[in-house]
Formats: sequence, C-alpha cells, structure tokens
Amino acid sequence: MITEKLAAARQYEIEALEQGKVTDEDRPAFHATGTVGWINDPNGFSIYKGQYHLFYQYYPFGNHWGPMHWGHSKTSDFIKWEFLPCALAPDSDCDAEGCFSGSAIETPDGKHLLIYTGITKAGVIDGWERCYQQQCVAIGDGVNYEKVDGNPVISKEDLPEGSNPYEFRDPKIIKRDGKYYTIAVNMDKEDCGNAYVFESEDALHWKFLKMLDESKWEVGRVWECPDYFALGDKQVLIVSPQETEGNGFDVMPGYNNFFLVGQESAPFEYRREVVQPIDFGTDFYAAQTIETLDGRRVMIAWMQNWETKDYGNDKHGFFGMMTLPRELWIEDGHVYQKPVKELENYYGNQVAYSNVKVAKEMSLDGVRGRVLDMKLQLKPESGAGDYIFKIRVAKDGKHDTVIELDSRKGTIKLDRSNSHYKISALATREFPVDFNNGKIDLRIVMDKWSMELFANNGKQAASMKIDTDLSAETIAFESDKTVVMDITKYDFQ
Ligand code: FRU
Repeated sequence: MITEKLAAARQYEIEALEQGKVTDEDRPAFHATGTVGWINDPNGFSIYKGQYHLFYQYYPFGNHWGPMHWGHSKTSDFIKWEFLPCALAPDSDCDAEGCFSGSAIETPDGKHLLIYTGITKAGVIDGWERCYQQQCVAIGDGVNYEKVDGNPVISKEDLPEGSNPYEFRDPKIIKRDGKYYTIAVNMDKEDCGNAYVFESEDALHWKFLKMLDESKWEVGRVWECPDYFALGDKQVLIVSPQETEGNGFDVMPGYNNFFLVGQESAPFEYRREVVQPIDFGTDFYAAQTIETLDGRRVMIAWMQNWETKDYGNDKHGFFGMMTLPRELWIEDGHVYQKPVKELENYYGNQVAYSNVKVAKEMSLDGVRGRVLDMKLQLKPESGAGDYIFKIRVAKDGKHDTVIELDSRKGTIKLDRSNSHYKISALATREFPVDFNNGKIDLRIVMDKWSMELFANNGKQAASMKIDTDLSAETIAFESDKTVVMDITKYDFQ
C-alpha cells in the first residue's frame, strides 16, 4: 500500500528532479547520493534479482536530518547508480517516529525483505522524552514494499533481561545453513554498547540467541550499525561507535568505525582479537558490506561525520554521499581495502611519469582535476633520508587541501583548513602509516567534493570531503628532501 506519506515523498522526488533542484553537475561523478535532500547511513545493501540495491537513511524534504525514510537506488557495477522511488516512510504504528537503519535479503520465494528499526514514542522517562526502538520487516518486489502485520518482529519484549529498549537498533540480517540471523545493537546496564544475535526460521518470528560482543568502554560507548561476516580465516564484526576516546594518532575521539577482527570457535561464538580503525579520514561512518555475485566482500559507508552534519548543508540540493564501494581482503589478520575494480572500466585518459624528482613545489602537465584516480610511488633520493612530502590538491590561487607525509614520524596528515572550510571541527586528521625505508605507495581517488586515500596497497584508508569550488583543480607536489616519484593518473569517461 502506498500511504499518503510515502506518496508525498515520491512526489517530492519527482518534482525536485523536474525542477532541477539537484543537477548532475552538482552530484559526484561516481559516488552514490540520495535523490534529493538529506542522507545518512547506507541501509539494505543487498543483491536482489541479480542487481545490487542500496537504501539509505533519508529525509527528502530538506538537507538536514528529519523523520527518517528509506531512500533507494540500484546498480549493476557500483559506479553508475539508478535512483528508485523512496522505499519506506514513517507511516505505520510501529515506526511513526522514523524508519531507522537496517538491512535486506532476497528470500527463497523471490521477494526482497527489508528489516529496519521502527521508532515509536515511549513518553517521558526519567525526565527525558524517550522512544522505543524495535525491529520491523517490509517485503517487496524491488520497488514497492509492504510492512508486515506482525511488526515489530523483534520487539522490546524479545530483549533479554537488563537490556535497553530505547537503544536497540540497526538490524543486520544474514543467512547461515538455511536459518536467518540478525545482529542488532543494544546497551548494557552501565549504558555501554553491545551487539546481540537473534535467530529465526522465517525472518518474521525471532528469538534472542546470544550476546555477540560488547564494548565495556573499550570500543566507544553507543554502538551503531553492526555487520558480521567471514573474511579469509577471520570473522569480522563491524561497529560504528559513538564517543570513542582518542588514543594517540590511532583513533580520533568521537564517532568512529571499526573492524573488530576475531574468530568463531562455533557458530556465533565470536572472540575479538584486534580492533582496527576502518578509515582514518574525517568523513566515514556506518559502513555496511555485501558479498558480490562473484564472491568479493564489498563495503560502502556514509562519507560524513555526525559532528559536521550541520555544516555546508545548503551548498547543493542534496546533502550526504556514500564512499566508493571498496573491496576488502585480509592479510596477516589486517583488513585491506581498495576501490571496486569496476571503477577501472570508466578510466579515460592516462598520464604517467616516472622518476620525477620532487623538491620545490611543482606540478606536472596533465596531472590536475577533481575527478581522477591517481597512483603514486615515493622513495627518498639515495642518501636524502627522512622527508616531509606534501601533495596539494583542489588548489587554486588561494585554496588547497593538503596530504602531508612525514616519513620520520610515520604519519600522513590530511588538512582541509585552507579549502573553504569554515569550522574548526575535523579540519585536519593525522594517522600512522608504514614507510619501508622511506618508500610508500598511495592511491588518491577524487570525485569533485571528496577524496579517498589508500596507502600501502590499501593497508590504511582515509576519506575527506572537500568544499573548494570545482575550478580549483591544480595538483602540486613538494618535499623538504628530494623524493623520487612515479605517478600514473587516470581521468574518467
Ligand atoms: C547511525 C544512526 C543509526 C540510526 C540512524 C538514524 O548513523 O544513528 O544508529 O539507525 O543513524 O538515522
């Protein structure tokens, strides 16, 4: 049934596109955005009838967070996205205050099943206006979805003793050995995040199975947006914690996203071994993954941080975009990532230089632009020793965004404080990287309003949004000691 609220959202989308509220020039060339208005977390990243569907937290009517809908798009190659009509609106008794994050799966009878968090008013509790968070299901055909009568299918009554019914959300559905399982986050009595597992035969009737993992203040406070999958010989739990404490360079305080890399000794008997930050940049949250038709584990995230959610909202007719989908693999217990290989199908012109000696600030013919993929190998000139190497991108006479490599400290710093950025929060970000006798390789993907950086074959990644006008497209290199650089840069067709 298409309710009035859903119809209003769909109508708004049609009119916004007709009226040119969002133009193709404004949108990134190959990053997923919402049809119009605000988006946050990726939701329901799934395969349905051989295509990849991506939903997202969505408020179409403005460029700010509001009553949450689910926006919808699909792709066959992760690069070109097709907009589909808004999929869910907060229009039923069990989600009147919002349809929060969740996931999706194709059922054996050829339906597309969405599981999401329904928000409803709970009243004033301990002086606070609270809402219940419970898990709901909607079933559809890839365009239209019906909320099922049994909602909420995982209710506050299904929670084990001592759980928190106001912080119970973001169900990730998976299937193993013919059964459905859902990982959802909650909080313990001390108000600290954890992840629960529920089990079901039909995805409609659920029971609590067990606690999968809990923060105990080690990995932030509130946990959000879990994912859970095997990668190589490891089992990875993804969580997006709020209120993480900063820890040297490794983690910035606040909102973070981690791979919790561990092992399963038996089904869902998971033991965490390593906490690995997923992305060291300023803009990365709520990552979700999919197993592709050819067996790759691909991850996508919201390229934004909640701390800067009110900055620059009205620049375009949309606010918020996703990262590039990234392939994940594991080496020696560490999760690596790189842009999906499909990106290369869109490569246009190639410019390559080798053995360029970089010292004083310089640019290279043909190495410029705001939509590009650039691969660099750096090494100090023989005897030059440690160096500080800077790459300035999105540069014009006044602005630049700087990637600074310090081989002595073993760090990379991203700095957008000179890029039209007008608030202090998250202007810079520094993180550790390995230099091998001063050698390092980098890959930088730029798409108009963003850059994503991968160091050492994807051992570390860092994402940053860039505000600078698109006319700023100079790229310059400089180093305090002579560095020898090989570089290949691709445009896109
Ligand atoms: C994470 C999050 C989720 C929630 C959604 C609401 O960014 O806070 O936990 O479901 O956003 O939009």
